[in-house]
Amino acid sequence: MKKTAWPAVFSIVCFCVYFALGAWGRHGFVSEEYMNYLLAFCYGFLGIAFVRLCTHLIFDVMYFRRTGREAPDLLRIMFSLVAYSIVGTIILASVLKYNVTGLLATSAALSVVIGLALQDTLGNFFAGAALHIERSFKIKDSIKFGERAGEVESVSWRTTTVRTTDNSFLIFPNSLLARDLIEVFPYDGLHQHKVEFSASYSLSPRTVMDTAKKVLRDLEDVSCEVQPEVRIARFAESSVDYQALFWMKNYMKVVDVKALFRERLWYAFYRDGIDMPFPARHVLFERVKPGRRPQAICMPDYRCIIDGIDIFQSLTRSEKDALVARNNVRIYAPGECMVRRGEDGESMFVIGRGKAEVRVSANGTHSTVAVLETGSYFGEMSLFSGEPRSADVVALEEAEVLEIQKPSIQALLDENKSLAETFSKKVTERLAGLERYADSEEQETILVEEKHLLDRIKNFFNLSG
Ligand code: CMP
Repeated sequence: MKKTAWPAVFSIVCFCVYFALGAWGRHGFVSEEYMNYLLAFCYGFLGIAFVRLCTHLIFDVMYFRRTGREAPDLLRIMFSLVAYSIVGTIILASVLKYNVTGLLATSAALSVVIGLALQDTLGNFFAGAALHIERSFKIKDSIKFGERAGEVESVSWRTTTVRTTDNSFLIFPNSLLARDLIEVFPYDGLHQHKVEFSASYSLSPRTVMDTAKKVLRDLEDVSCEVQPEVRIARFAESSVDYQALFWMKNYMKVVDVKALFRERLWYAFYRDGIDMPFPARHVLFERVKPGRRPQAICMPDYRCIIDGIDIFQSLTRSEKDALVARNNVRIYAPGECMVRRGEDGESMFVIGRGKAEVRVSANGTHSTVAVLETGSYFGEMSLFSGEPRSADVVALEEAEVLEIQKPSIQALLDENKSLAETFSKKVTERLAGLERYADSEEQETILVEEKHLLDRIKNFFNLSG
């Protein structure tokens, strides 16, 4: 307001002098021409006060209230230039009685000369104006230009000043920003950032992804509005490389957040006894059983799990040992379909770790028949009866299963034919559970299946009697 007060005071003083001289002028003291000049001064100061007041109201009050940030200098300068030109022209034409048309013609010629001399400066000026009109970026937004990035501090009629993360200032000529590609990170919006890290091949992706997501969620500056994501970027020579995607508002903190993420991840891995990968070459000579998986993944005790499974209760110790020893372990990612309805299947699965959902789909929607926990089994219906798979079985979380193949069951049934009855009872129970989700035609098939199940099992395994 000080800026407005001074010209206003000058204007009042000039008006007082003007009127005082006007009174003397009647006695021929001051000529009319000088009086006109004085009046022009009065209006000139008044005009300056008026333009400054308008600038203050428009930019410091209205603009600030609407946008919550300071108006760019360039806008103020442009507004003032136009307003002062109008005030000046009015004073010249109405007070000093100048022929403004002639002046405009002269100024056009002058403009060409000035324009040629100030080509670069004017280029920057108009580039700055274009950036404002297009609203390419605003004060407080962050911009990235090539390798350089920072927060926009001010946009003047010639340059844009950007503050970097190390608190130095980059001053870009406006014409450069208008011409080249810039990346803008709005200060009031979320933007995605990526950070890469590596983990050992011996860790399951789910373990790594869950740990990294937890670390990201705990970081203060990472937004919780959009959940962070972690995905595999590549299988590198000595490690699996992951990419963590997270969302932030404050671009100026990205470098710090990435550093903090790496630090916290190290601690999280260390707490869980997980080694960080480093370039290494292991030369191992080993006879590997197909389907065996890396040692570092914690192995469930399948022998113990088999002890708790009802259909295997009557087996001897050595038969149970053989079941575990002769079959392979498989690992599935969350959401993977382990068994698909309608497919042929000659194996059953014992869940060593994780959960699975038995589901049947119809008309694009699916119904959950059962959720199977660790220690449960599935796939026995096809294995025992030779029928196609009766439902989809999907891993709800990372799941590890022992896949028992037909030859193992065949060996058991050859030794102990009464097992067929135990198997048929269990399958009948599960068929009953499926009935609810079947249409009338399928229900009839299920009933027929139930009736002849024992015979089918005996047939399928070539058991006489
Ligand atoms: P299978 O038909 O080979 O493949 C799908 C599997 O889903 C099936 O074997 C069973 O193991 C399982 N399943 C089907 N119905 C049920 C049920 N009602 N309860 C639990 N598991 C089931």
